[in-house]
Amino acid sequence: MSRRWKIAVAVFLLLIPILAFAAGTAVIYHIFDWHYASRFVIGTVMGTRARPLTNQQFERTSPRIERGKYLVEAARCFTCHSETDSQTDLPLPGAMGAGTVRQLLVKTTYPNITPDWETGAGSWTDDMLARAIREGVGHDGRALIPIMPYASFRYISDDDLACIVVYLRSIPPVHHLLPKMKLPLLFKLTAAGFPQPLRNPVPAPDASDPAKLGEYLTHIGMCASCHDGEDKQGHTLPYAGGRMIEGPNGESKVAASNLTSDSSGISYYDEALFISTIRTGHVGARELNAAMPWRYFRNLNDDDLKHIFAFLRTVKPIKHRVDNTDPPTYCKVCGQRHGGGETN
Ligand code: HEC
Ligand code: HEC
Repeated sequence: MSRRWKIAVAVFLLLIPILAFAAGTAVIYHIFDWHYASRFVIGTVMGTRARPLTNQQFERTSPRIERGKYLVEAARCFTCHSETDSQTDLPLPGAMGAGTVRQLLVKTTYPNITPDWETGAGSWTDDMLARAIREGVGHDGRALIPIMPYASFRYISDDDLACIVVYLRSIPPVHHLLPKMKLPLLFKLTAAGFPQPLRNPVPAPDASDPAKLGEYLTHIGMCASCHDGEDKQGHTLPYAGGRMIEGPNGESKVAASNLTSDSSGISYYDEALFISTIRTGHVGARELNAAMPWRYFRNLNDDDLKHIFAFLRTVKPIKHRVDNTDPPTYCKVCGQRHGGGETN
């Protein structure tokens, strides 16, 4: 081969990975958005960023079990990690935490996190669980897909994390073998770009500030994951609603409510109405769609619900009328069709 040919072949061989990389980025952008595409780039270049596991062990105490149960309910761990009732979205009897498989974009395995030794978390260390929950790296070192809401759980304080782990160890083990998830390479590389190790202790929120306590609970309950809206340019409209959410029985989607204190939001709420809405799933006589997981939040105590309400009152009011009792119409604020859209 002449020298010129050798150079041409070398350039060609170099171009293949560059082109594959560019094509991969474009595909991920097309399926998801820029945020995911940027994670694909990070994941491909840097791999999974994970901190090494420690051998920390959390002391098993009954106050921890009790607090852990409270938090796990509010964080809705078992709505994902169990087979659930199609009306209430609560775990089926005997299925709590035992995992399930759901058909999303790909067949998705929600792992068994009960303490079963062979098919669940029985053999995992405390720190394997802790790292998975807040930092998105599984017991085996894999980057978890961000359906596992570890970015929201990142705010969980060290003490509360210990409670969650101790509680998970105390639930009945369920022997339930699930298939290993087979992710396409592009998705694996994208998932790898998400985890960010926590290097510093996470303190509990400032107990003297009700709104801060409330904000902390909204991270655990992931309220923003449904209630944040988006304008037509894709900018987040915090708590302004409009995101279309599918209920547990796969019925047609409904729009999440505007929870800001604008008059198009929930300005008319007071603490008592907020508490009764979350406890009963009814706003006065109006029944909320099951897409709103109030059944998981109904056991939050009065103080915690008051804190959440106090936090919502600090969120900037945004005008965005969302009303599922009206037929869907085009909305120029969010660019989607939802009830009350035409009035915006
Ligand atoms: C919205 C759905 C969802 C919620 C809510 C959720 N998870 Fe997950 N979780 C997942 C999925 C999906 C995976 C698997 C991700 C993967 O394999 O890439 C996962 C993975 C995990 C893992 C890692 C398992 C392993 O193989 O190492 C642990 C531990 C875990 N979740 C615990 C929890 C706990 C505790 C909570 C509540 C505080 C919780 N999850 C809430 C969806 C969820
Ligand atoms: C899985 C998605 C989801 C999550 C998570 C979620 N919500 Fe909702 N929420 C909805 C949907 C959808 C509606 C609208 C239901 C309807 O109109 O029937 C709603 C309605 C509400 C309402 C009634 C507002 C009204 O229209 O009067 C309140 C209050 C509320 N949510 C508070 C919260 C709080 C607080 C959290 C977190 C602790 C939260 N939600 C978490 C989906 C969600």
